[in-house]
Amino acid sequence: MVTPLLELSGVAAGYGAARVLWDIDLQLAPGSVTALIGRNGVGKTTLLRTIMGIQPLDAGTIRLDGQDIGTLPPQRRARAGIGYVPQGRHIFPQLTVAENLETGLMALGRRGKASAGVPDQIYDLFPKLGTIRQRKGGLLSGGEQQQLAIGRALAGAPRLLLLDEPTEGVQPNVVQMIEAALLKVRAEMGLTIILIEQYLDFAWRFADHYAVMDGGRIVRQGDTASDTAADVAHLVRI
Ligand SMILES: Nc1ncnc2c1ncn2[C@@H]1O[C@H](COP(=O)(O)OP(=O)(O)OP(=O)(O)O)[C@@H](O)[C@H]1O
Ligand SMILES: [Mg+2]
Repeated sequence: MVTPLLELSGVAAGYGAARVLWDIDLQLAPGSVTALIGRNGVGKTTLLRTIMGIQPLDAGTIRLDGQDIGTLPPQRRARAGIGYVPQGRHIFPQLTVAENLETGLMALGRRGKASAGVPDQIYDLFPKLGTIRQRKGGLLSGGEQQQLAIGRALAGAPRLLLLDEPTEGVQPNVVQMIEAALLKVRAEMGLTIILIEQYLDFAWRFADHYAVMDGGRIVRQGDTASDTAADVAHLVRI
């Protein structure tokens, strides 16, 4: 079998003494897309934060392309090729669109030339961003901020992209736009992706695999081609 791009085994993490994640095993084949789903508060965001190194690992291992990255700080993981689009977007409100995108270039480290600037590809994916390059991030609409957050993560040319609810609080026509852009990213860049997504229809259109979390554990995994969204909906609904 090919080396998984990301391999978690026995991962446990939380906030101080409050354990949130228990015994997580997950393998992502290179180029695959996994939808991470589950009810509110089950630990989805915490899992992405743990992969990114924002939350420390309490137990288990995290390997990126075979290398143990479980003790590296977040910036080193970004440089190793992990791009993160956090829930709630967290763009820099005082920086312009262009400056926000430039902060994403830092993740290139030694892998690429940050001095070459933000690749045109980002503006091709999100044409709206090109027309508002000089606008301050804090003035953007929710949908524009979401595009900016995704663009910023892509500017670092990640191998693994972690997307935390990219459609949350975004109106339907922008959801379609983001979905189209992500499908394009997937096809053109061959990225490996974890997508946290409440819209199961979108998750099933986009992902090859799904993993359902409950109570800080992965309680079911499978292929989106074998199981339907309706098969798992009862595990996700409140
Ligand atoms: N900074 C924090 N300190 C302490 N506990 C936290 C912190 N952030 C989250 N938690 C707790 O960890 C648990 C998992 O939260 P998490 O945000 O990972 O869930 P989630 O599955 O992403 O939920 P949602 O669907 O609402 O985004 C929850 O019980 C939450 O209250
Ligand atoms: Mg969350």
